Amino acid sequence: TSTKPRLNSVFGMGNPLLDISAVVDKDFLEKYGLKPDDQILAEDKHKALFEEIVKKFKVEYHAGGSTQNSIKVAQWMIQEPHNVCTFFGCIGEDTFGEILKQKAKEAHVDAHYYEQTEEPTGTCAAAITGNNRSLVANLAAANCYKKDKHLDLEENWKLVEKAKVYYIAGFFLTVSLESIQKVAKHASENNKLFTLNLSAPFISQFFKDALMKVMPYVDVLFGNETEAAMFSKEQGFETEDIKEIAKKAQALPKVNKKRARIVVFTQGKDATIMTKGGDKIEMFPVLKIDQKDIVDTNGAGDAFVGGFLSELVQEKGFEQCVKAGHYAANVVIRQAGCTFPDKPDFN
Ligand code: AP5
Ligand code: NA
Repeated sequence: TSTKPRLNSVFGMGNPLLDISAVVDKDFLEKYGLKPDDQILAEDKHKALFEEIVKKFKVEYHAGGSTQNSIKVAQWMIQEPHNVCTFFGCIGEDTFGEILKQKAKEAHVDAHYYEQTEEPTGTCAAAITGNNRSLVANLAAANCYKKDKHLDLEENWKLVEKAKVYYIAGFFLTVSLESIQKVAKHASENNKLFTLNLSAPFISQFFKDALMKVMPYVDVLFGNETEAAMFSKEQGFETEDIKEIAKKAQALPKVNKKRARIVVFTQGKDATIMTKGGDKIEMFPVLKIDQKDIVDTNGAGDAFVGGFLSELVQEKGFEQCVKAGHYAANVVIRQAGCTFPDKPDFN
């Protein structure tokens, strides 16, 4: 059985960022104290990095931001009607902001940005060395999202109420916990689906309290293997076995008892694992790809989520959601950034 998705039935809220990527050298990483494969928030010592990467290396710009990527992929998978997916986030009134608005429009996403003039539109530097990539997010405007200035406004909250599937990347926990809680409670009270991503190890580590305030509302929890491992460590699960971690995350307290939590952990080229109520775990192999066809895995995790959500909102089974996630990720890793061709080829 499938339901044709209604307008605004998938809701996403997060940090709208413009990605600035370049192949850099080891010296550059060292200068800014970056690990080759990491995701962090920019600190004062990274300020000059954003100017230097543009001056010194050949950069590419892509609309990014984790939740925004997933929402675009979900809309791309759905195709028609347009504006099934809604997106909220904060940008500046500047060129980068204009680019993000334009890209959201082209993706047929119903984006409603809170625009302010204090801070410029956020950026995320992707410093690439070999197969590794170090992401440094300078949230800037994205960090200025305000519940009372945007989410609470009647016309905006109406869009939240129209949705039946909600997705927020854990990254947004650093910005507006109260906005996330408001949406999560709404979902839970109305037996709708609230989904969240662990997003990066630093979220489980340094934003643990915020994360655990939201966890009781989470119906579907996404993450990759490194994020799962850090979550386990921080929660004192005392296991490095990803299946055990998934079971323990699944069993954490939950407010809406009408739905069991589903936990989905991707592992790059290795099989994705998913809890299946109770004590069961299932493994789903990813789609095979010749490694030489991989252009850039940036956005792979976000694309997986987008594919998953596109089927979830059509009330398909969770296995079908994983299949769609694998399909979308497989497409996106063949292209630079979180981009995709005109139309999907998935059923
Ligand atoms: P994100 O989309 O998370 O991409 P990524 O982390 O660069 O992607 P990874 O390659 O690490 O994917 P993953 O580990 O999540 O998934 P997995 O490898 O398991 O992040 C990029 C975006 O984050 C940027 O646009 C940036 O703007 C944003 N961002 C950064 N900081 C932010 C912040 N503070 N706030 C907001 N946004 C922020 O792979 C998933 C699936 O892909 C697999 O299941 C499989 O199907 C497929 N796949 C991946 N690799 C392979 C392979 N080698 N072979 C076959 N299939 C593969
Ligand atoms: Na890509």
